[in-house]
Amino acid sequence: MYIGPQGIVHGTYITLLNAGRMYLGLPEDQDLRARTFLTSGLGGMSGAQAKAVEIAGGIGIIAEVDKSRIETRHDQGWLSKYSSDLSEIFEWVEEYKEKGEPVSIGYYGNVVDLWKYVSDNDIPIDLSSDQTSCHDVYNGGYTPQGLTFEQGRELLKNDRREFKSLADNSLKLQFEFIRKMTKRGTFFWDYGNSFMKAVFDAGVAAIARNGKNPDDGFIFPSYVEDIMGPICFDYGYGPFRWVCLSGKHDDLIETDKVALSCIDPKRRGQDRDNFVWIRDAEKNALVVGSQARILYADAAGRVKIALEFNKKVRDGKIGPVMMGRDHHDTGGTDSPFRETANIRDGSNVTSDMAHQIWAGNAARGMTLCVLSNGGGVGTGKAINGGFGLVLDGSERVDSIIRLGLDWDVMGGVARRAWARNEHSIEAVVDWNRMMGNRGHITLPFVSGEGLVEDIVRKKLR
Ligand SMILES: NC(=O)c1ccc[n+]([C@@H]2O[C@H](COP(=O)([O-])OP(=O)(O)OC[C@H]3O[C@@H](n4cnc5c(N)ncnc54)[C@H](O)[C@@H]3O)[C@@H](O)[C@H]2O)c1
Repeated sequence: MYIGPQGIVHGTYITLLNAGRMYLGLPEDQDLRARTFLTSGLGGMSGAQAKAVEIAGGIGIIAEVDKSRIETRHDQGWLSKYSSDLSEIFEWVEEYKEKGEPVSIGYYGNVVDLWKYVSDNDIPIDLSSDQTSCHDVYNGGYTPQGLTFEQGRELLKNDRREFKSLADNSLKLQFEFIRKMTKRGTFFWDYGNSFMKAVFDAGVAAIARNGKNPDDGFIFPSYVEDIMGPICFDYGYGPFRWVCLSGKHDDLIETDKVALSCIDPKRRGQDRDNFVWIRDAEKNALVVGSQARILYADAAGRVKIALEFNKKVRDGKIGPVMMGRDHHDTGGTDSPFRETANIRDGSNVTSDMAHQIWAGNAARGMTLCVLSNGGGVGTGKAINGGFGLVLDGSERVDSIIRLGLDWDVMGGVARRAWARNEHSIEAVVDWNRMMGNRGHITLPFVSGEGLVEDIVRKKLR
């Protein structure tokens, strides 16, 4: 089921579009045309930003200190241009803004210098983030300002203390520039790389919401808690994916066509994004190895698409298809610092959701069920329940699709609805209506925040 970097490109594309809607007020049917996104990192996962911002229609400016990383992304066609001259880069930005065309531009240099340049020259930036490896700053995940990538490696080998001190200063500076720019209207969010924690560890208490410690979170939003959680997972949109087991590219093209025919782009902004994603998937050439596709579909979408695929297999139009999803989803994962970060009723520190979904998937006949500790945020911090289902064209598999996919997705939506997440309540109401007497998810009785206090006060009076 490994699908290479396609998943991260799709996830980043969706995050960028939804950030545009949330923070810039973009209408549901618009993309990031003529909007700027400033960030850093063209590495393993971060390299997806370049491709994703172009697919989302925007202008990306991405700092990277390691020339070899820039060249890899450029040669691969994910990064359109690069330069180490900031004035040249911002001339390109203006040119593409005027043309209204998307472009990804690499800045070969330190992200702190990029922030300094936009701040000193008062260049407006719409959206911004950071994807240096801040989860591992002091082992070289973050190159301090003033050092080239090679000098950073050298210093790390010879004087770790000095490296730490320079990294701390660099993070402090970066924070100051980001703060200046956010006051002028730039939106910044943490991209799951522990940037805000790293800034705090560097000695900047002002990044903590309470100004003292991280107990109440940080001052900037975080991509899952504030963007993906409410806009995707709460509705059930998650990383549904499939692999054509024949290994034939023609089969993948056929499945793309089927998936496209199942999406109504006018239903919600999320459906519009998915429609565009699948429509342009072949053009964007994201396949690496397996003939695979990812699509952030909701429960109804996943069931519809899977049934259509199974029918195509039954009719002999395509070979068997393996479908599943990754962990970055609505229901299969309990991960309080990421996937379940926006479940705020306290239940996100338990792992029963992932267990129930895993066991329920097994009982419903999925081909492959996996329960694992760790993944993404680390061992002890996440439980992941994954599954795979081979679509062999049989009627038996039709019934597994109907039972299993709803369980897998709506189990997560139910948990979110019970935590009183508004969009999940909306999704459950729709699902109950659609299912009639074939299924029912209970809903919470939402009371006013002061209800318990009022009752106690009256009793004690
Ligand atoms: N993209 C996602 O959806 C996602 C999800 C979860 C976590 N993350 C986190 O994002 C971070 C990046 O992941 P990755 O796989 O791309 O790591 P990576 O180490 O492969 O890439 C990070 C890049 O940042 C560059 N860099 C470091 N310091 C720099 C600086 N000061 N200025 C400019 N460039 C600098 C490095 O040279 C490197 O190429 C990690 O912390 C990861 O855990 C990403």
